Amino acid sequence: MKILITGGAGFIGSHVVRLFVNKYPDYQIFNLDKLTYAGNLANLADIEEKENYQFLKGDIVDADWLDEIFTTYKFDAVVHLAAESHVDRSITDPLAFVQTNVIGTVNLLNTARKHWKENLQDHLFYHISTDEVYGSLGEDGLFTEETAYDPRSPYSASKASSDHFVRAYYHTYGLHVKVSNCSNNYGPNHFPEKLIPLAIHNIKNEKPVPVYGKGENIRDWLYVLDHARAIDVIFHEGKVGDTYNIGGINEWRNIDLIELLCDVMDEKLGREKGQSRQLITFVKDRAGHDLRYAIDSSKLVNELGWKPSVTFEEGLAKTVDWYLQNSEWLDNVTSGNYQSYYEQQYVNR
Ligand code: NAD
Ligand code: DAU
Repeated sequence: MKILITGGAGFIGSHVVRLFVNKYPDYQIFNLDKLTYAGNLANLADIEEKENYQFLKGDIVDADWLDEIFTTYKFDAVVHLAAESHVDRSITDPLAFVQTNVIGTVNLLNTARKHWKENLQDHLFYHISTDEVYGSLGEDGLFTEETAYDPRSPYSASKASSDHFVRAYYHTYGLHVKVSNCSNNYGPNHFPEKLIPLAIHNIKNEKPVPVYGKGENIRDWLYVLDHARAIDVIFHEGKVGDTYNIGGINEWRNIDLIELLCDVMDEKLGREKGQSRQLITFVKDRAGHDLRYAIDSSKLVNELGWKPSVTFEEGLAKTVDWYLQNSEWLDNVTSGNYQSYYEQQYVNR
């Protein structure tokens, strides 16, 4: 089987690529990535020489190029993760999110449909999405697969739009699709613009840790490898045309999470207990900041037998250890060195 994974140089995508390359030596895995600021081939250094792995640098907004690679490689399936993924960036530049998340996804759908139309049933388009499409919860309740869409940021609006297009191609053209909507991921290789890696970076360097508003917003955190495991299960065993919610059953108020992280890091860095909490700095809130996300993943658990494999305490400890042991990775992505390297390395595209 030839599988095209988009966004494979990013945070979640790199874990999905590694899992598929190592677990399925008979599959040929193609990693399509534009290498934006968030894409980093260093995330995959350990598998780049594997025979069943190939990197394709390019942009999903470029429909002609997509047509070329589908013609050349004849993919059997697509696992689509490429996206602009940061809510704060979507507030300053919504159009970039429309380009990649909406236009890019529709380009991929069109290309898949064109190349697969003779035997749709033998192909699969698996779209990776987010719980943010469901909007913001109050104190009670969980997002289920039936919750009505209510996106409230340009990012979640663009992801909601892409989800609708994917389902429209299933109903209208018979393209075989699956969709999953996951809660907040954390773990190794997370770009340090997002809360947990940003806080780890700042605590390590004794810089202020910015907490938006009063830190009362709630997120449901899942270890990234458990998301990759869920994607594997849904890809192979999920029902065509269905949606699966993926969550950590692990809700944290931002302020409680950051205090826990400070304490974990104090211990690991040999600092006095409570020292890093002094770095916590309350800053201006995010515009339109969703209060609470929480996922009901019982469909995935009951129908496909998936469940998270690590507790939050274990996952957080592993994550902090990874960042402390990989300071070169962190220094590179925060300095922008790797961006200029890739600009020189890939002058042709
Ligand atoms: P990320 O920002 O770390 O990685 C995105 C990747 O997509 C990068 O490698 C980037 O170079 C690539 N990319 C961006 N624009 C592209 C384009 N036009 N063409 C080709 N490649 C392009 O994102 P992530 O956090 O790994 O998220 C991956 C997917 O999972 C996204 O679709 C996101 O919406 C979804 N998701 C993320 C989370 C989370 O907590 N991070 C949770 C649920 C769902
Ligand atoms: O729920 C899934 C989504 O989770 C994914 O679809 C997105 O791609 C991913 O970025 C993430 O979105 P969030 O906005 O929830 O993640 P972020 O890490 O940006 O913020 C987490 C919470 O922490 C949120 O309530 C905002 C807050 N925050 C964030 C940053 C960067 C802070 O308080 N301070 C910060 O500096």
